[in-house]
Amino acid sequence: MKILVIGGGGREHAICLALSKDESVTALHCAPGNPGIAGIAGVPGVAQTHPVDQLDPAAVTALARELAVDLVVVGPEAPLVAGVGDAVRAAGIACFGPSGAAAQLEGSKAFSKDVMAAAGVPTAESFVCATVEEGARALDAFGPTYVVKDDSLAAGKGVVVTDDREEALAHIRDCVTRPGGKVVVEAFLDGPEVSIFAITDGTTVLPLQAAQDFKRIGDGDAGLNTGGMGAYSPLDWAPEGLGAEVLERVLQPTVDELRRRGTPFVGLLYAGLALTSRGTRVVEFNARFGDPETQVVLPLLRTPLAGVLMRAATGTLADQEPLTWHDGAAVTVVLASHGYPVSSRSGDVIRGVRAAEMLSAPTGGSVTVYHAGTALDAEGALVTAGGRVLTVTGRARDLAGARKLAYAGIGEVTFDGAQHRTDIAAAALAGKVRAASEVEGA
Ligand code: GLY
Repeated sequence: MKILVIGGGGREHAICLALSKDESVTALHCAPGNPGIAGIAGVPGVAQTHPVDQLDPAAVTALARELAVDLVVVGPEAPLVAGVGDAVRAAGIACFGPSGAAAQLEGSKAFSKDVMAAAGVPTAESFVCATVEEGARALDAFGPTYVVKDDSLAAGKGVVVTDDREEALAHIRDCVTRPGGKVVVEAFLDGPEVSIFAITDGTTVLPLQAAQDFKRIGDGDAGLNTGGMGAYSPLDWAPEGLGAEVLERVLQPTVDELRRRGTPFVGLLYAGLALTSRGTRVVEFNARFGDPETQVVLPLLRTPLAGVLMRAATGTLADQEPLTWHDGAAVTVVLASHGYPVSSRSGDVIRGVRAAEMLSAPTGGSVTVYHAGTALDAEGALVTAGGRVLTVTGRARDLAGARKLAYAGIGEVTFDGAQHRTDIAAAALAGKVRAASEVEGA
């Protein structure tokens, strides 16, 4: 099978690495890719990268035709919302990634709330507001803690959660004063958040193992929101049967509702969930694999990935054998560049990637460094080229071992201005994470 992966972050590196280990894959291309993807396993011809404007459906389709691929896998949300999936399918090429219409599940928070209401999916009460006055009334209806979400795509930075009414109002003002701008103001959900991904062909839904990610820049969830600073999987503390409950009450009804509307969702449905004192609630849907959760979920998947994605893309997921998983756990820690998430500095030389990956053998686990915002400079040196630069994943027999390896890997990689969280998976390891419904007195 010949595959083209669209995107160039840590998530796409993890997808490409998983696909490169699938014996049914005879050629693997990525556009635009990154230096890590280009060097996968050091096998020439296995992972080739190509320049492309990911937001141009015609350009992506032309590349897929030129490479004569059997399957296109779209990583990020923006190409999906721009209609890349529609154009690729219209050209007769199988595509893992929803249509532009179905990707509105992520592209518009208001659309997502409408789908959830129609499908009876549990989520926070909310108001869609198009003016500052409407927004202010909604804030006062719920009281603190205030939750304000930009209706449109904002690269993980559209959500403000704060006890400060002025800050919430300022975010509302920023969003609604843009042409066509809207916000969703919603009730605050207590309890830990988890991410559950599901592969779907628009009818059959296959959930993957749950993960937890860490969205704030600082330890203890302090500071600004980011795209995600680390993740781990599986979640030993999660209530038994969580996957089955989420399939029955969240994923399947949502997929059924989109099919009923004539816009079937084919691809990866990502449910961001809060395990609240009143039960499981959807915080948000995304229309693609999460980043950095993918860097812990895919390394644990034993079932070869390409066949599953192809079945989803061709409407035959009902024929898929149940997914199987490796024992053990994975922890990933993001290394971000100077200034992230407000800005990002490019051109800082990165050292120690190979040394980090060499840590694998003697300890019995493995360390994998996934590239995100990296580039090669004119001299061929690896340099920073984005906010989230690298993700270092440790995999081991248990969470403690995986965490140790991930941080040992982080200790090897250096560049000026590098920042990372030091508490990824720490609370879970200390037995301090529980669903709010399981906390006494809740
Ligand atoms: N890790 C959060 C996201 O991918 O949106």
